Amino acid sequence: MSKNYYITTPIYYVNDNPHIGHAYTTLACDVIARFKRLDGYDVKFLTGTDEHGQKVEKAAEVAGKSPKDFADSVSVNFKKLAEAMNFSFDDFIRTTEDRHYAAVADIWQRLIDNGHITLGKYAGWYSVRDEAFYAESEIIDGKAPTGAPVEWVEEPSYFFNLSQWQEPLLKFYEENPDFILPTSRRNEVISFVKGGLKDLSVSRTSFKWGVPVPNDPDHVIYVWLDALTNYITAVGYPDQENSDYQQQWPADVHMVGKDILRFHAVYWPAFLMAAKLPLPKRIFAHGWWTNEGQKISKSLGNVIDPNELIDEYGLDSVRYFMMREVSFGQDGDFSHKSMVTRTNSDLANDYGNLVSRVVSMAFKNCEAQTPTAGEYTDADKALLDQAYGLYAKVDELINRQAMHQVCDVIWAVIAEANKYVDAQAPWALKKEDPDRMQTVLYTLMETIRCLGIITQPLMPDSSTKILDLLSIDKAERCFKSLNRDFSLKSGVSLTKPDPIFPRYIESEKAEAV
Ligand code: ME8
Ligand code: MG
Repeated sequence: MSKNYYITTPIYYVNDNPHIGHAYTTLACDVIARFKRLDGYDVKFLTGTDEHGQKVEKAAEVAGKSPKDFADSVSVNFKKLAEAMNFSFDDFIRTTEDRHYAAVADIWQRLIDNGHITLGKYAGWYSVRDEAFYAESEIIDGKAPTGAPVEWVEEPSYFFNLSQWQEPLLKFYEENPDFILPTSRRNEVISFVKGGLKDLSVSRTSFKWGVPVPNDPDHVIYVWLDALTNYITAVGYPDQENSDYQQQWPADVHMVGKDILRFHAVYWPAFLMAAKLPLPKRIFAHGWWTNEGQKISKSLGNVIDPNELIDEYGLDSVRYFMMREVSFGQDGDFSHKSMVTRTNSDLANDYGNLVSRVVSMAFKNCEAQTPTAGEYTDADKALLDQAYGLYAKVDELINRQAMHQVCDVIWAVIAEANKYVDAQAPWALKKEDPDRMQTVLYTLMETIRCLGIITQPLMPDSSTKILDLLSIDKAERCFKSLNRDFSLKSGVSLTKPDPIFPRYIESEKAEAV
């Protein structure tokens, strides 16, 4: 039986160009997706763009384009970013695609047929920026709790009977304690739901840019009901038979930012229960990035373009930094200084130097071949055990999306390996005990083999370079090989190593600032 794994990013609004926040969410999913592929899963990794609604319609107007032309022009930037970041997505969904219209119309019809949607009239607050309805009690100083402006809306509207789903939702959270992570966010959702749920307006009549309500084209379907449905569209819904639906639904993880947790952890499960469809297994809400301590916003002009980061620091440094710098789930700050520190100390010094000095020593002293191990000492065995133990540790962390800890446990082994090099001093063994030198270098290269395999999801390009240096067969780079049975072959030719992780050197311009 094949093992399936389905992970999704939010679909991003095309009112704005991609920035570090979008790159962050998709990166976390990419690392997990790559990990699961190397672990033998049949993975579906979905990302895409959210193209309907008033916010996009307005942005198109400002740009002087039709909403569809505007969406086309921005959506492609998200796709380009995904390529620049080396994201291994399997599908890129756009809500303006025919397959999605079919899915949204179908889920709407199910909700109608099951008696959960009825026609009424909405009178209340709406925030276009958040694409969300707010109750009077939530308005603070004339604004949404998020600080977004709100406007008063009165129009005919279909309502979803969300108020009926309070108890079923609470029961579901209770029975599935890991449905929402981190736990602090879970608690917030539970107390929000305990506070009572109002029926939700799920259609709009004052603008046109959306999926029309079946049989009532004066209405367009509320953009969040439309957008959330993307997760089942992409696995073939409404076709549940001749599609990936059976294998891939329910999703293993919907990764989101904390700003959109309520939509994913309250509305989406309620829609699915009402439509009698299975619920996703996990909603993980990560935190918010700031730039040098400041909230990232267009008006402050401090939006970070990931393409510029890649040009400045290199792709794998950026990928590593984002996963390592912040405890996943918490808010984090981007700063040039911490980016440089991570690049130079964790990557160039700790990991890069380990690889270069070990492979260079073998190249020079073992006739440019992988060394041969003799009898292992306790110190050798201890290091190898740590290397072979990595998979189980990282697997457990990946399964609860503890991305920063994934880096921690890998770098703990890198630190051990560096200590081992210093303690064993293989350069001194060359004359006095060349066999022992071979064993020490073998132990180190075997450790590096395991490191190179386990860092592939984080830093695909650099890890490939490392595994190429060791001449590891392409077929032996998956996690099945992370044990003794696949140990490094002795006597295989080595190439002279170039540095894997270049140091970041401050330019004079940067120093002058
Ligand atoms: O909300 N820090 O789209 P969106 C971290 N279309 N993550 C950030 C971030 C930051 N400063 N800024 C944005 C929408 N993000 C809807 C989603 S899903 C069915 C529909 C990330 O373009 C984070 O993942 O506003 C956040 O949840 C998402 O971008 C919001 O993207
Ligand atoms: Mg947003």
